[in-house]
Amino acid sequence: MVLNMTRTIAQVENRSSTDTFRLDVLTGLCQPQKVTPAKHLYDEYGSQLFDQITELEEYYPSRTETAIMREHGAEMARQIGPGCLLIEYGSGNSAKTRVLLDHLSEPAGYVPIDISEEHLHNSAEILGNEYPGLRIFPIATDFTSNVELPEIDVPVRRNVVYFPGSTIGNFKPDTARKLLASIAELAGKDGALLLGVDLQKSVDVLEAAYNDARGVTAAFTLNMLTRINRELDADFDLANFEHIAIYNHERHCVELFIVSRRDQTVRVGNCQFHFAAGERILTERSHKYSLAGFAELARSAGFDVAGVWMDENQLFSVQYLTV
Ligand code: AVJ
Repeated sequence: MVLNMTRTIAQVENRSSTDTFRLDVLTGLCQPQKVTPAKHLYDEYGSQLFDQITELEEYYPSRTETAIMREHGAEMARQIGPGCLLIEYGSGNSAKTRVLLDHLSEPAGYVPIDISEEHLHNSAEILGNEYPGLRIFPIATDFTSNVELPEIDVPVRRNVVYFPGSTIGNFKPDTARKLLASIAELAGKDGALLLGVDLQKSVDVLEAAYNDARGVTAAFTLNMLTRINRELDADFDLANFEHIAIYNHERHCVELFIVSRRDQTVRVGNCQFHFAAGERILTERSHKYSLAGFAELARSAGFDVAGVWMDENQLFSVQYLTV
């Protein structure tokens, strides 16, 4: 019986990932507010740094969400029911997934999706050893592109997308709605989404979480420049840039920036980019929701909010949304 198969489904893409990266970076650096898409933070080293962020004292989301999963995982699994195909968006090291897998009744399979291929395969292999009966079908892709589900050789009772970490917060509300709608379509009839959603809270807590004292978040953000230097033949001098995270009260999001420490010109391939002293590149937004605000967004994407679990301080929520 070959149950523990770890199989890659190569996504057919007409552009290479380096070409996509180059186009995104050059386009972003030409904008009046320079930007680089957050998904490109996750090369192999960036994914490792993000794993370190999740262990930081100041970074409350990961440990809070894990605690919610431990406390309420059994109830979540009951709502999901037996025989589900569990599809994870941005699986990373699948840390929280284990809590869910421990409670799920006879899952038909597990489909981890992650943009970082090496990280994905290492994690899938480790998980496969821990759950020997589980069918695992890793897909190395950007989950904002079209996801195609693998064929499963056992009946699937329900597709359940697991999207933890409040990665949905990386998207502007309008884009988040479109992504949620595409998840509803993928999950299909009787499908569901188990989603981590970070909540609004005091600015001090939020800014500390994204400006940690050990500088791991700074290293994570600045790794974008290291990656651009390596992959796109650029000459960013890392000593001339720093990281800062600031809460934006109008948009209800933390904004993470790379700040130019001086007036300077940088070359990326054949292009030159000027930076004034203090000028910023926006690398990420991390939106924070109210429960009511998120419910409205979910409904507008075709979901019903069937369950919400939180920690006692209401820092973070895990929500069960049904199609
Ligand atoms: C992975 C998008 C959920 O926004 O909290 C953490 C990313 N960046 N610290 C977040 C992140 C810097 C994280 N998400």
